[in-house]
Amino acid sequence: MKIVLLGPPGCGKGTQAQRLATHFGVKAIATGDILREAVRRGTPLGTKAKEYMGQGKLVPDEVLVPLVREQLEGLDGFVLDGFPRTVAQAAALDKSAPEAVAVRIQVAPDRLVGRLGGRRVCPSCNALYHVMSTPPRTPGVCDRCSTPLVQRDDDKPEVVRKRQEVYAAETAPVVERFQRSDRLRTVDGEGTPDAIFQRVLRAVGD
Ligand code: AP5
Ligand code: MG
Repeated sequence: MKIVLLGPPGCGKGTQAQRLATHFGVKAIATGDILREAVRRGTPLGTKAKEYMGQGKLVPDEVLVPLVREQLEGLDGFVLDGFPRTVAQAAALDKSAPEAVAVRIQVAPDRLVGRLGGRRVCPSCNALYHVMSTPPRTPGVCDRCSTPLVQRDDDKPEVVRKRQEVYAAETAPVVERFQRSDRLRTVDGEGTPDAIFQRVLRAVGD
């Protein structure tokens, strides 16, 4: 199973990617998580990515394409969350996985701001929470590994706006590209995460 999740910031890619990876027994590759981890560790990749991410801009293709190529090496299946985000990235993926199917998660724009504003993430295991819709059992602490939860730096309203603009300019053409090659499935992203998961499974024919 080779799945690409598409959709604007906060639509639920990360939430669904983790469920899909468990369901199909494949690896979830979340480029945002990989980059954030690199920033936290202060690696050369993190140093390069930090400035772009803080401003809500895309990290250059020359960095992302080799990074994802390396992640995909030897895998029979995967769920990609956050890649491809540009037409150049999509063309690179087509070379290594031309059969990958894209699922676009559609959510009304006014809902996205609330989802990102209430998001809390575990910096250790990347578990996702929302203070209203999916709170942790103990406020501020990860259910899975007890690490204190954090808010992402790029969930500030001004950076969210920039990320939305970048999505419209750079990633909307990727959606069209999958549509043209008849590899795009669209699911309604409103409802509970479990209800949306069932829609995604149907969309990929499971
Ligand atoms: P990335 O981390 O990929 O961010 P994003 O695409 O903006 O998406 P988000 O992670 O914000 O949202 P999501 O769709 O995963 O939603 P989630 O499931 O968390 O990228 C960050 C940055 O890294 C980029 O800006 C860029 O700089 C860089 N980058 C990454 N990939 C790159 C690439 N390929 N090329 C270049 N640069 C790259 O859900 C959001 C919230 O809503 C959560 O709190 C969740 O609990 C809640 N929620 C989820 N589903 C529901 C539901 N059904 N009902 C209610 N609440 C829900
Ligand atoms: Mg995410």
